[in-house]
Amino acid sequence: MKIIWTFTLLMIPGVVSSMSVIGYSGGGVMITCKYDKGFETYPKYFCKEQWISPCSELIRTEINSEEKWVQSGRFSLIDNKTASGLTVTIRDLTEQDSGTYYCGVEIYGLDPGTKVNLEVITAGPRIGTVRGYSGGHVIINYSYAIQHKNSQKHVCKTGENLCLSLISISGGAEWEHSGRFSIHDNRSAGLLRVFIRELNVQDSGEYRIIVRASEDYSFFSEFDLVITDDASETTSSSSPPPPPPSSSSSSSLVESPLQRMCARH
Ligand SMILES: *[C@@H]1O[C@H](CO)[C@@H](O)[C@H](O)[C@H]1NC(C)=O
Ligand SMILES: *[C@@H]1O[C@H](CO)[C@@H](O)[C@H](O)[C@H]1NC(C)=O
Ligand SMILES: *[C@@H]1O[C@H](CO)[C@@H](O)[C@H](O)[C@H]1NC(C)=O
Repeated sequence: MKIIWTFTLLMIPGVVSSMSVIGYSGGGVMITCKYDKGFETYPKYFCKEQWISPCSELIRTEINSEEKWVQSGRFSLIDNKTASGLTVTIRDLTEQDSGTYYCGVEIYGLDPGTKVNLEVITAGPRIGTVRGYSGGHVIINYSYAIQHKNSQKHVCKTGENLCLSLISISGGAEWEHSGRFSIHDNRSAGLLRVFIRELNVQDSGEYRIIVRASEDYSFFSEFDLVITDDASETTSSSSPPPPPPSSSSSSSLVESPLQRMCARH
């Protein structure tokens, strides 16, 4: 176990609702636990059920904090008071993360909570690092389980605190285009392909492909994009760009709650 328990509180959440979450090793999940109106100002926590204690705290909201992300190792959370929802992100998942978790609201007495059953599935090859050259293009191939063929999918670039949405494709669409970005979703093969054209050095950074599995949670994979200014290579890599946008191309950024809820860690 890599997690060091700084303190283990004896928390006994009373379960109000429960959800099942699937994640993939090496990737992450973003879970949203709804709570009842009236609990906005109460502290919230996320804990894991252990045999030694009912629930070991992993992360909690900061006292008197504004709505902002709190980080602790691979965990981060934000209490969205306007939406009455606690969003928790776990990165770099391993099979050992499988288990029962609770999102709890700390009150006097039994804490109202949501039970989260997380199952981490051993994933196939990871995307890893993708390299490209200024002026060229890259194609990122992402295989997903066929059960998610109708899920909405996003690509975002991780920044200071949030992940800025670059392009999104709704479940059911085959192509989506936005500026230099295109997505092709081959739903019969479970293969998502992300095209980025006219690359420049500023495109380097960490990206996420997010699959919105349900109303309650999304899972994601991260990859690094490394773009170098290599004049000798530019000509060979600026080969013909991927298929041109179809007639119904959209160049506007697709707004989504994930755009703001996607934490840096
Ligand atoms: C809280 O949720 C609402 C509704 O989904 C959204 O508009 C708002 O941006 C969210 N706030 C934060 C800080 O994520
Ligand atoms: C994705 O697949 C295409 C075609 O099969 C290939 O040209 C491209 O290099 C692949 N992308 C990566 C990052 O491996
Ligand atoms: C989707 O993938 C399948 C299997 O690899 C392939 O036969 C088919 O041509 C692909 N469809 C499109 C539209 O690319």
